[in-house]
Amino acid sequence: MSHRVVVRPAEAELDVLDGEDLFTAARRLGYRWPTVCGGKGTCRTCFVEVDEGAEHCSPVGPLEREGIQALRQPVDGRTRLACQLRVAGPVTVTRRGVRRRVQE
Ligand code: FES
Repeated sequence: MSHRVVVRPAEAELDVLDGEDLFTAARRLGYRWPTVCGGKGTCRTCFVEVDEGAEHCSPVGPLEREGIQALRQPVDGRTRLACQLRVAGPVTVTRRGVRRRVQE
């Protein structure tokens, strides 16, 4: 089963699989997503703002909590790390810099 995640402002519509994190789903679907660590949860470059559907987002684990605090954001479900975020229903997030990979 998959869940639709809309990424603003590009309005990218990603079908994220159960158990799959948002960052991995975006890459699988051919999108570039800002990262340094490649999805290990350590660079915090992949962060998103959750606009809608926070109730469908996975709980914040210890690694992600550390990352959000390092970003100087409250751990209130609004700021999340895409590489740690799993969803169980429709969600809308904002992340500038997400775009389709150019075909080579
Ligand atoms: S990709 Fe580095 S923390 Fe998410």
